[in-house]
Amino acid sequence: MQIHSSIPELRSTLGSRGRIVFVPTMGNLHEGHISLMRQAREHGDRVVASIFVNRLQFGPNEDFDKYPRTFEDDCEKLRAAGVDVLFAPTERDLYPEPQQYLVDPPEIQNQLEGEVRPGHFRGVSTVVLKLFNIVQPQVAVFGKKDYQQLMVLRNMTRQLALPIDIVGGETVRAADGLALSSRNSYLSSSERAEAPRLNRLLNRIREAVLGGETDFVKLERATAVELDNHGWKTDYIAVRRQSDLQVARGANVPLVVLAASRLGAPRLIDNIEI
Ligand code: PAJ
Repeated sequence: MQIHSSIPELRSTLGSRGRIVFVPTMGNLHEGHISLMRQAREHGDRVVASIFVNRLQFGPNEDFDKYPRTFEDDCEKLRAAGVDVLFAPTERDLYPEPQQYLVDPPEIQNQLEGEVRPGHFRGVSTVVLKLFNIVQPQVAVFGKKDYQQLMVLRNMTRQLALPIDIVGGETVRAADGLALSSRNSYLSSSERAEAPRLNRLLNRIREAVLGGETDFVKLERATAVELDNHGWKTDYIAVRRQSDLQVARGANVPLVVLAASRLGAPRLIDNIEI
């Protein structure tokens, strides 16, 4: 695996050969990330990963400084997964001057994750567009774990006519259902034991909707109350349309249930397609 931090060096390595599949990450890699690398392999002949903790997408009170950085371990995992090239820029490489040109996503950037994390999707969209321009992949793979992020990036790619296919990878979970996340390392052992409740309750909403329940607001409220009774602080539980994450009026279009809730300090997100 070749590792580059400089943009010109990466560009000269990549040249114009082959079909490039790109998997951007912020590092601290786990099996969820690695499953995306494996999927990437099926879509082209050169897999390029990136590791960059993107300051632009963190709010002033978020965990940018303490975000776990485990570069050597990450390289081992990427090598074992057969990744061809790793792009790991420093902040100086990627933002040599203040990034004043920003991608401004539509209103959905202020809902759900965006309501709690103002500016987050502008930061994500800006860095991903910049990484796309640097790597120039034909395909890019993102996890469904961050469902709203996947939707925002898919729509950005389409509306800006970027010649890139966006592929969504299924969420990888622990045996008890908890979605793997770098932030799970912040959970205490009692919180870790409680954490799978989130996924269990999302599954219960899914069953209820498949069973004919159409009062989504009732399901959302009941679930939030149940979580909060077990010590969670829920930001949202929302049944939405898969295509644009707008409020769903009925179950006649594909739906997804999205959730974010705080368990102690860590904030966990999850979702389930119906
Ligand atoms: P990061 O949180 O490191 O995630 C990198 C990719 O891994 C994302 O596409 C995310 O959805 C996916 N992922 C995380 N946990 C997963 C799981 N349990 N199963 C499957 N896929 C999972 O998302 C980001 O970084 C950043 O916002 C980024 C897109 C790199 C832009 O900075």
